[in-house]
Amino acid sequence: MRQPQFRMPKVVGHRGAAAHAPENTLAGFRAAKALGVQWVEFDVHLTADGRCVVIHDDLIDRTTDGTGEVGRMTLAELASYDAGSWFDPRFAGETVPTLEEVIDLLAELELGANVELKPSPGAEDATAAAVMALLRQAWPGHLPAPLVSSFDYRSLEVAHDAAPEIARGLLLETVGDDWLELARGIEATTIHCGHTPLTAARAKEIRRGGYPLFCYTVNHAGRAEELFGWGVSGVFTDAPDQILSLAQAR
Ligand code: G3P
Ligand code: CA
Repeated sequence: MRQPQFRMPKVVGHRGAAAHAPENTLAGFRAAKALGVQWVEFDVHLTADGRCVVIHDDLIDRTTDGTGEVGRMTLAELASYDAGSWFDPRFAGETVPTLEEVIDLLAELELGANVELKPSPGAEDATAAAVMALLRQAWPGHLPAPLVSSFDYRSLEVAHDAAPEIARGLLLETVGDDWLELARGIEATTIHCGHTPLTAARAKEIRRGGYPLFCYTVNHAGRAEELFGWGVSGVFTDAPDQILSLAQAR
């Protein structure tokens, strides 16, 4: 059942605040808070020993000083790599955080979150099951309820079955004609999509369908303003400083 009362704000820090600090790190979430966002988005993978970790790619190569696949690595090995220096030397010492560590920090900072399930190929069911179990068990009661999303439809089905009370966002690169069927299939609360292929007509159709629509990754105020004018509920941005004042003025 959709939750019409569900509220994600107009500006969501993408991977923390990816233009300001290394993505998906504790420093990144602190930076997002310092910039004034109320919610962040981040990506979750599963390690070889079954731990939920916050990282975008299947490989650690781009965002750490190591190489290899997250899904073939233990947490201990993953945590031995530096996940901050690639962005800027002043972030040396950041590591790929566990989901537990991120939840603890969100509790301290009072940040809401959109948790994106980003399973490595073959780990769809296990990743979704592990993340939903953890959210159920450890999500702080004083935070707004989390929103789980994924490009992987199977992950959303597993999330639905594992924890139907936790809201789901249908995440699509492009919204096609089948969006409503897909949304109903997982009892989605929100629709998330890439902003580039979105049309005003499609945004209106989704809004008329009663679904809040959130677009990624919007880093320019002019484009955010246009999207808000189309009825888009909010944007994921690497640069919240560019969008927050605009969103507050509307
Ligand atoms: O959830 C919105 C956005 O994060 C999806 O794209 O590749 O940045 O995870 P990506
Ligand atoms: Ca993401």
